[in-house]
Amino acid sequence: MNILIIGAGGREYSIGMALQKDENIGKLYFAPGNGATDELGENLTITDFNELADFCENNAIDLTIVGPEAPLVEGIVDVFKARGLTIFGPTAGAAQLEGSKIFMKNFLARHNVPTAKYIETNSIEDAYKFINTLDAPIVVKADGLCGGKGVIIAQSRDEAKKASAEMLSGNAFGDAGTSIVVEEFLDGYELSVFAICDGKDYVVLPAAQDHKRLLNNDQGPNTGGMGAYAPTPLVNDEIYRKLDERVIVPTLKGMEAEGMPFTGVLFIGVMVVKGEPIILEYNVRFGDPECEELMPLLKSPASELFYKAATGDLKNAKIEFHDKYAVGVVMASKDYPYKNSAPAEIIVDEIVHDDIFKEHAHISYAGVTRGEDGKLYATGGRVLVCVGLGDTIAKAQKRAYMLVGQVHYAGKQCRTDIAYQALEI
Ligand code: AMP
Ligand code: GLY
Repeated sequence: MNILIIGAGGREYSIGMALQKDENIGKLYFAPGNGATDELGENLTITDFNELADFCENNAIDLTIVGPEAPLVEGIVDVFKARGLTIFGPTAGAAQLEGSKIFMKNFLARHNVPTAKYIETNSIEDAYKFINTLDAPIVVKADGLCGGKGVIIAQSRDEAKKASAEMLSGNAFGDAGTSIVVEEFLDGYELSVFAICDGKDYVVLPAAQDHKRLLNNDQGPNTGGMGAYAPTPLVNDEIYRKLDERVIVPTLKGMEAEGMPFTGVLFIGVMVVKGEPIILEYNVRFGDPECEELMPLLKSPASELFYKAATGDLKNAKIEFHDKYAVGVVMASKDYPYKNSAPAEIIVDEIVHDDIFKEHAHISYAGVTRGEDGKLYATGGRVLVCVGLGDTIAKAQKRAYMLVGQVHYAGKQCRTDIAYQALEI
């Protein structure tokens, strides 16, 4: 099977790694890929959806897997499907679950999926009225895609009003903020749950926890994610059952009933409040860095999961996972998330005399560029993820950090406490 992966991050690198281990795979392509995906396959510079579809027709590509949300929201799946190509991901209609927070919140309300109390509005008066009914903290969100930065957790009503006014005036996030959602703050612990869906059936992956804040102990600004681990012991069968019954089944039925059957990754941002899973948000793609931990836990061939989901055949798939844990530590550049840093050469010490470590730790490359000298340079905000595996979280964490110690570049930064929530209990 020849496969094209759309995207450039550590997420797409990890999908490529999982596919490379799979004996059903012929050629792998990435569009655009990053400076290290050229070790797993071939990088393409094509960006236009129709030209990508031409490439797939001309090169016998059997399956395209879409990593990031932007091409999904822009309709890459619609273009490919119209041309009879097999592609894993939701249509533009279904991708509104991520592309529009207002669509998502109204959808959850229509289908009785538990979520925070909210209003959507483009009126500053209505926003103020609703804010006056809530106690701080209060959450204010811009409607469209803002690269994960459109959420303000205001510590007072005044701050919430100021954030709403700024978003509605278009000053804060441009057009993405011309409508807003104001909602109550949920106080609990957060999970990332991923359901791979084929429109009707689904497979739930081991639940993960992401670490969104820049600094240890969840301090500092929000980032794209500084590390993650899975499976988390903070979830139990009861929570999985509630997620199935109250969230995933009604969502798939609702999307089908509304004429937008959902195929792809349903990424469920969950807050568990007093044992009850409440939905914070949906995304329509894998989390990054969660994907980097989940892919190595997959025991079944990755191609089976993605191909069967893309062709509506998950009911005939038996997807298995390793009975192991994975911890992923993001290594970022010096000034992440504030500004770009100067390119820095990456040097990875060779691991010798320790086969167990070699087998249980690897790097998933993200913001890297290959120089003309053939060396890898850190050029993005999140540069790479060091992933450790083990039969306990502590072992997986230790291996991830041993690997961190072997990676060098000027200005490297990472958290030193990834997976702490799991080790505290
Ligand atoms: P979102 O982009 O909606 O996922 O929000 C980003 C982050 O803000 C989430 O991962 C949560 O940590 C936090 N957040 C969003 N909405 C709420 C809420 N209603 N209550 C508490 N935290 C929230
Ligand atoms: N890790 C969170 C995200 O990908 O949105």
